[in-house]
Amino acid sequence: MEYTANEYRYTRMKYERCGRSGVMLPKVSLGFWHNFGSVDPYERSRDIARYAFDNGITHFDLANNYGPIPGSAEETLGRLMDEDFRPYRDELFISTKAGYEMWQGPYGNWGSRKYMIASLEQSLKRMRLDYVDLFYSHRYDPSTPLEETLQALVDIVRHGKALYVGISRWTLEATRFAHQYLKEHDVPMLIYQGRLNMLDRAPQQDGILDFCSQEGVGFISFSPLAQGLLTDRYLHGIPENSRMSKGKFLKEEMLTPELLAQLRAWNDEAAEKGQSLAEMALTWILHQPGVTSVLVGASSVSQLAKNLQCLKCI
Ligand SMILES: NC(=O)c1ccc[n+]([C@@H]2O[C@H](COP(=O)([O-])OP(=O)(O)OC[C@H]3O[C@@H](n4cnc5c(N)ncnc54)[C@H](OP(=O)(O)O)[C@@H]3O)[C@@H](O)[C@H]2O)c1
Repeated sequence: MEYTANEYRYTRMKYERCGRSGVMLPKVSLGFWHNFGSVDPYERSRDIARYAFDNGITHFDLANNYGPIPGSAEETLGRLMDEDFRPYRDELFISTKAGYEMWQGPYGNWGSRKYMIASLEQSLKRMRLDYVDLFYSHRYDPSTPLEETLQALVDIVRHGKALYVGISRWTLEATRFAHQYLKEHDVPMLIYQGRLNMLDRAPQQDGILDFCSQEGVGFISFSPLAQGLLTDRYLHGIPENSRMSKGKFLKEEMLTPELLAQLRAWNDEAAEKGQSLAEMALTWILHQPGVTSVLVGASSVSQLAKNLQCLKCI
């Protein structure tokens, strides 16, 4: 059935300025790492994306290697653009990244200019887009001169292939360098993408979040629910088809008796406040100073609907 976006979508979401930029991002953004690959039913992916946009989620986050198979999440987005979202292109803020292995040989990984530029060309074709709103270096590359990776980002913006740039998983020292380099080249760093959640506070401990706040760089938290741990998903065993049951990115060994006890205690605390654990976990992140948005994943519309409940508490 032809898609028409819900007319009330912008009354359902709260937006936050991304650092000291002109861009407003939704407090809840949607990640395409899982659930949008060629192994996933297209109709389910489509329903999640439609539900997201109908609820004011204007920011979709991708990377070259999201799938599985790598590249297929971008292909799913390309199909969604053609079938549903083309009329809304200017209402969407779409990001992709390069930094992890994408193709064989010496030019399909890390941070060389060769890789970054070729990868974005491929991503644009898969997503059927002329440009992305945001392009990231997906990880810090200790072997490539930082100037090379950063100049590739600058040139990508100059050539109109991305409107803004960001970095993800860079060390504080490299982030400082990147910020200065990009500023001097008139392509300010829009945002830093890092993992911050109730179980992993590294961006606060290592000073990344403070740096972003001080310098007017936005911060978006990936895996805000710790891949599902910070929900009721694993409180009573490991459900079939859950991310943990697949055993690749979320391993059973992580769910120690101590962690389970902590999750149950937080679940009770949330219930006392009339919240779900997911709601409490997302609210916690959004209350941390310097955080612009949380980047949630969802394998169903109902999960996303539950996660959006956090908007009531912020
Ligand atoms: N920059 C980076 O290096 C990096 C790394 C990782 C992620 N990311 C970005 O961050 C996005 C989100 O990451 P993530 O998928 O790990 O996020 P997440 O929100 O922490 O976890 C999402 C998973 O948790 C489960 N879940 C979500 N809501 C639930 C609910 N209400 N009740 C029960 N279970 C629920 C689902 O897993 P089930 O499959 O078990 O249903 C869902 O797929 C990615 O898509 C990507 O865009 C970036």
